[in-house]
Amino acid sequence: MPKPQAGLDYGEYLRLGELLSCQSPKSAERGQPAHDEMLFVIVHQVYELWFKQVLHELDSVMALFREDSVDERGIGVAVSRLQRVTEIQKILVDQLRVLETMTPLDFLEFRDLLVPASGFQSWQFRLIENKLGLRAEGRTARERIPVGAASPSLFDLVESWLERTPFLEVSGYQFWARYAEAVGAMLANDRRTIETNATLTEAEVQAQLAELAQTEASFAAVLDEKGHERLRAEGRRRLSHRATRAALFIHLYRDQPILHLPFRFLTLLVDVDELLSAWRYRHALMVHRMIGTKIGTGGSSGHRYLLATVERNKVFTDLYDLSTFLISRSALPPLPPEMERRLGFHYPRE
Ligand code: HEM
Repeated sequence: MPKPQAGLDYGEYLRLGELLSCQSPKSAERGQPAHDEMLFVIVHQVYELWFKQVLHELDSVMALFREDSVDERGIGVAVSRLQRVTEIQKILVDQLRVLETMTPLDFLEFRDLLVPASGFQSWQFRLIENKLGLRAEGRTARERIPVGAASPSLFDLVESWLERTPFLEVSGYQFWARYAEAVGAMLANDRRTIETNATLTEAEVQAQLAELAQTEASFAAVLDEKGHERLRAEGRRRLSHRATRAALFIHLYRDQPILHLPFRFLTLLVDVDELLSAWRYRHALMVHRMIGTKIGTGGSSGHRYLLATVERNKVFTDLYDLSTFLISRSALPPLPPEMERRLGFHYPRE
């Protein structure tokens, strides 16, 4: 352990002199101080500091997944770092409440002084999106500020890790054929339930059967690589077929000791994505009440544009969609003993 530096001072260590001299409200510079502009500046600066911390955590998780093989300890570290990211994200959502103590009228006191500056130009925010794996195709020209393509992204790294996982290859065990049988039995049961439901009208029966057909088609793509590739070409799937199957396997057999951490990890990726959507939605609501339907200082349609990004800018949609393909624990094909042994922790008796 290095020795502490003699005489190190709190303010010096945190460089508070610099940090606390970085707030320069424009209204004060113009000689007409607007009281709430200080809050506006500080809230944004706090966001940027948290963005920096989030990037620090994401970078470390991505470094672990860039290795040729990720061992259990690596997954454990990734899980705890992503957990930290989600705790920060919860604060990011909540923090908007502090800014909302400023009324729309108070905001108008200095809003025009901000043009053309805008949250659009937060390059750390874009970097977070890029590192997670938000693709350029989904973006409008304004959103594409040049902040490093972050390639491979966390999405790419997770995909190739899933493709490498060994769970699917155990000789003599045809997991997917057994899974297809179990799914087939479940769907046939659903069909019978609909067809024999005396409380439904003929039109309702047909509508429910049409929905069931959609689910059947979705399942078919999990079982058939070509079907999956077609969905990928249409932009309805993003993860490769192999990675999707591995993720599904982890979800189905998450009770197996060795799959606990991979399952936690995949769940956290969905949490991070969901909390980012929650922030986008919450920010859009705040913008609506703050500026109504006016355009933004960065030139977008404002609230309407922001609302559209909530659905459009998800990264791990494939992981959300996995729930479509789950079957109940009781219907799961039992794993052969050899595989059970490989997926469990075994401590021989003394
Ligand atoms: C009074 C408060 C706020 C208002 C009225 C507001 C308004 C807007 C508007 C209208 C946009 C769309 C781009 C444009 O046309 O300018 C935008 C984007 C953005 N804002 Fe805010 N904002 C506020 C507070 C914040 C805060 C506290 C943050 C925290 C960092 C923030 C971060 C962003 C980001 C990152 C974008 C880009 C979003 C994207 O393109 O997906 N905003 N904001």
